[in-house]
Order: sequence, then structure tokens, then C-alpha cells
Amino acid sequence: MSILDETFELNNQTKIPKLAFGTWRLKDGDEAYNAVASALKIGYRHVDTAFHYFNEKSVGQAIKDSGLKRDQVFLTTKLPAEIKNHDDILKNFQESLDNLQTDYVDLYLIHAPWPWSDINLDYRYDGANQEAWRTMEEIYQSGRAKAIGVSNFDVHDLKNLEKIWSVKPAVNQIEFYVGWTQPKIVSYSKLLGIQLEAYSPLATGGLATQAEIQNIAEKYRVSVPQTALKYVLQKGILPLPRATKAEHAKSNADLNFEISADDMTILDHIPDTGQARHNVTMG
Ligand SMILES: NC(=O)c1ccc[n+]([C@@H]2O[C@H](COP(=O)([O-])OP(=O)(O)OC[C@H]3O[C@@H](n4cnc5c(N)ncnc54)[C@H](OP(=O)(O)O)[C@@H]3O)[C@@H](O)[C@H]2O)c1
Repeated sequence: MSILDETFELNNQTKIPKLAFGTWRLKDGDEAYNAVASALKIGYRHVDTAFHYFNEKSVGQAIKDSGLKRDQVFLTTKLPAEIKNHDDILKNFQESLDNLQTDYVDLYLIHAPWPWSDINLDYRYDGANQEAWRTMEEIYQSGRAKAIGVSNFDVHDLKNLEKIWSVKPAVNQIEFYVGWTQPKIVSYSKLLGIQLEAYSPLATGGLATQAEIQNIAEKYRVSVPQTALKYVLQKGILPLPRATKAEHAKSNADLNFEISADDMTILDHIPDTGQARHNVTMG
């Protein structure tokens, strides 16, 4: 069976395809439209976007034009990190639905616990995130998001929501790739039964120069990106690779091999060669 047909089950029993197509940096218009249209042709059934990728219109159009029924595509979008108050969230969510030409999303995430202009661990947006989460729950109860979750949340941020939640987040989407595996937030999310998603699973393109991962890829006769994606999946985490080139999107879904336990351990110890600066979710 192809990985494109496999699913994880979220903590609210929703099925989520194990491999997603990421769309960050894909420009609204031809670039985003063509990439998503081509991914859907290849067989991807899970698309990850965000209001702040400013490409929801093209993503929605590509899904609409694909000929697939709405319920055949798992669609995720995200609430901008800067918006935390009830009324603005409801307004922004409706704008996302309008952009995407749909009346529901499969997964709606709080993009980050802090505004992008103020990423630090000294000041926490605890009250604001609690208000945002209560509003996410309201959206969930309305049926317009089939599941709700968070992104870039660390242990402190999850504990903050735990104090008030009636609905547990179904997903925490974090930066995760060979060399950057954030063990604290990974184990805490798993403990709570929150499905992890790996963003930048190819280190935004930065893994290709790694000698150790190249050696393992050669051993299995696959590429470095295929090795990196399989590593994420074998950790029980859902990767969201982005590709503008159709041949990349196609090979990223060709993951019919198994990395041995010994090779997984080697990959566990590969140093980080991705971007120098990370978002701070390592608490
Ligand atoms: N929640 C968040 O805060 C957050 C933050 C960052 C990302 N994300 C999500 O995670 C997704 C993925 O992360 P990312 O955009 O940082 O990038 P990524 O998936 O780690 O890497 C994308 C890069 O890898 C290249 N690539 C893909 N497949 C390849 C292959 N088979 N061979 C060689 N090169 C290949 C792409 O090239 P081509 O384009 O040339 O094909 C592109 O340059 C995003 O698109 C977004 O949906 C979420």
C-alpha cells in the first residue's frame, strides 16, 4: 500500500493521511495552484496551508478544480499567530474558509503561541492563548473544523492550555527533521495523545549535504529526502514536505522501504545542519 493511502487516527477518531503536501512559500497564483494540482494528481490527499502563507485562494482553487470531492482531501489551515482574541479569530477563520472556497476545514491550528515579531520565552502569551483555544473549541463545536490543534507549542504552552481545555488539541505541528528532533515536546505531546506533525521535514532543503544520511540513503537505494521522510514516519510523526517540482513530490511519496533500528539510531545522532536559527519550541 502506498503511504498516500495510509492514515493516522487523531484523538477525536478523525483519520488523517500520513503524508501531507506543504505549501509555505508557494506564491499565490500559478506557483501554488500548479504545485497543489500536481500533488493531488500524484495522489496526495492532505494539504497543509495557513492564512499567513497568503496562498489559500490558489490552494482552494486547485482542490476545487481537481475533480476530487471535498471530503476526499484533508485540508489544514492555520490561524495567524498574532490573532488571539475571540471576535478577530472568528472573522479570520471565515476569511480562510472564503479563500479556500469551502465551508469547513479538516484541521485548524493556532499557528504559534507568540506573534512572529516577538518570539521569546521571557514573555508568555498564556492568557491570550487560552482565549484563542476557547475560540478554537467554539469553531470545532460548530462543525466548521473537524479537528483543532496547535503549532510551535512547547511544554509550557500545552500545560497552559491543559488548565482550561474541554477539547484536547488533536495535533501539535512542530519543526522536526533528522538532526532537529525536539525530544521534550515530542514526548510530552505523545504522552497527551496529541499527534505530532513534522514541519520542514527536509530542513527546508538543508539535509542534502549530510554525509551520514547520504550513506544510509545509498544503502537502501533511496534519496536523502526519502530517507528523511521515512525517518519521521517511523517516529510516528506526520511529515509535511513541500515541493514545487512534481518529480520531487512524486519521489517523496515513494517510501516503500523500512529503515532498520540500528540505522534509525545512527540518524538519531546526526547533528543539526539545517537552518542556524530555530523557532523556540524546545521547552
Ligand atoms: N507551522 C509552522 O510554523 C511551519 C513552519 C514551516 C513550515 N511549515 C509547513 O511545513 C512544510 C514543509 O516545510 P518547508 O517548507 O520548510 O520545507 P521542506 O519540506 O523541509 O523542504 C522543502 C525544500 O526541499 C526541496 N525538496 C522537496 N522534495 C525534494 C526532493 N525529493 N529532492 C530534492 N529536494 C526536494 C524543495 O524543492 P522544490 O521546491 O524545488 O521541489 C524545497 O526547496 C511547509 O511548506 C509548511 O506547510 C509549517
